[in-house]
Amino acid sequence: MSLYAIGDLHLHFQTDLKAKAQLKDRVWKNHEQKVQKYCAEMIQPEDTLVLVGDHSWGRSFEECVQDLQFIAELPGHKILLRGNHDMFWDAKKTQMLNERYAGKLLFLQDNFYPYEDYALVGTKGFCFEGPFYLNRRGQIVGWDEEKAEHAKKLVDRELERLHISFETARAAGYRRYIMFLHYPPTSILEDESPFTAMAEEYGAEQVIYAHSHGESRFHDSILGEKNGIRYSLVSGDYLKWKPMKVLE
Ligand SMILES: [Fe+2]
Ligand SMILES: [Fe+2]
Repeated sequence: MSLYAIGDLHLHFQTDLKAKAQLKDRVWKNHEQKVQKYCAEMIQPEDTLVLVGDHSWGRSFEECVQDLQFIAELPGHKILLRGNHDMFWDAKKTQMLNERYAGKLLFLQDNFYPYEDYALVGTKGFCFEGPFYLNRRGQIVGWDEEKAEHAKKLVDRELERLHISFETARAAGYRRYIMFLHYPPTSILEDESPFTAMAEEYGAEQVIYAHSHGESRFHDSILGEKNGIRYSLVSGDYLKWKPMKVLE
């Protein structure tokens, strides 16, 4: 039995994406087929696959039905996290989605899912992405204060949701955690954050995140070991569409 993760499939079976820059980069060419092929090769029915947000470009639930169906047909137990582009999934609709897809998909929000003696916990998260002001050498010399202030509010809300996820798992008797975020755990101005602090407080063994696309964004946050926690980026284009094995 194994645990896998991948994020940012950005499926668009029902959405016309001609204007999106995504399609211009070669890595996205037929990416759905690559995901399907690697999952079929690697994942057994008893395995678990966590999809770390940004599942679909659809702007409503109706526009995401085929994308969710594609995910439901991948092998293994599928656990989904909210991404910033997942318009079909208002946090308040989580229970409705879990009922609608019972036996097919599990939606992770204000709850947790067990994997052997681990609790899989998580939330969308948030990090400040600018606008930044740069000097001629491309170094950051300032940023939009108003947007930074707003970002703090979103971080606080997401921290509360993450706290609920950890506490629900703890109340159920779990003491080992794998923590999932859609956004990177730190912004590019930070080397620690309230999210990394919470991971350390609960003793999470791994933090797994996505959202960073394209070569220039892959090193926006922590990669590898820090303070006893392993941090991994699993955005699909970073992994070249091959899910990462999180646990044996
Ligand atoms: Fe994304
Ligand atoms: Fe994203």
